Amino acid sequence: KKVYAGIDLGGTKILAVVLDEQGTILNKSEASTNAHEGPESVILRMFDLIQRCLAPEHELASIGVATAGTLNAKEGIVAYAANLGWNQVPLGIRLQQEFGVPVNLENDANAAAYGEWAVGAGKGTKNCVYITVSTGIGAGVISSGRLIRGRDSSASELGHITIDWNGPRCPCGNVGCMELYASGTAIARRAQQLATESPDQAATLMKAAKGSPITSRHVAEAASAGDELSAGVLREAGRALGTGLVSIIHMVNPEVIVLGGGAANIGAPLLEPMNQAISDLGIASMKAGVKIVGPLLGKEAGAIGAALLVAAPSE
Ligand code: BGC
Ligand code: NA
Ligand code: ZN
Repeated sequence: KKVYAGIDLGGTKILAVVLDEQGTILNKSEASTNAHEGPESVILRMFDLIQRCLAPEHELASIGVATAGTLNAKEGIVAYAANLGWNQVPLGIRLQQEFGVPVNLENDANAAAYGEWAVGAGKGTKNCVYITVSTGIGAGVISSGRLIRGRDSSASELGHITIDWNGPRCPCGNVGCMELYASGTAIARRAQQLATESPDQAATLMKAAKGSPITSRHVAEAASAGDELSAGVLREAGRALGTGLVSIIHMVNPEVIVLGGGAANIGAPLLEPMNQAISDLGIASMKAGVKIVGPLLGKEAGAIGAALLVAAPSE
């Protein structure tokens, strides 16, 4: 029986799935990873995860990999993955040598966009944007029924569009990137900064964090408990996110935006200012028809999309 493997390579974990021809998950397997161990042990663990998902009756047809950062997809090389500290790692080549099947690398958010569009929340639409708000901010765009992959499968770096040209420098080289204001990392950083400046206003937040470093989840928790400092941080982040989304609505003219990653979990304190920004700033006729929905595939979206993409026609 023919099966298709998909892998999502993140900064803290690797997730592998094996799908049948209908796109149903037959098996999945997960392992942790980190930026300190270097590529070699991560690659070996990935080999092992795929093996563990395969049963004797499975005939592996292809492998798709979703990874954050920039790629040289045609050569099978991960060019630069900041969260893993990877530079020019020939991941695709190694997988191809090990398993002897076609391998495709794709940006993580592009792959998740394809998954949600093909079998998830964007199914049945022709113009669909997927965005993920997590450590960074990523996006993928389906336009007229095709995933926009770009020259190196690196298209749609929505997190690195400028929303303030006088803003700070981003590690990517640009200034005032949306990711610096609205990612999970940015939310945590801003909350920590305000808590240090005004400890008297940070009691609820510190209680939510219970002595560990503040994360965006703590900020969300404190905000829903009525904490004004946390609510203010999420208002700003939501406004930044909405401002970035206006640009993508103007560029893509989508029917649907699927909001993935942690953003949907944060809920109203982030989404209300986001929607408000879209309503204040978007071109009337364009913003009117856009539906913003939650994801359907959960954390497997990237791996499923990567697996399905190998079989998809490419331009
Ligand atoms: C990276 C993108 C990625 C996104 C989500 C950003 O920092 O530049 O490539 O899609 O994070 O992981
Ligand atoms: Na992308
Ligand atoms: Zn940037």
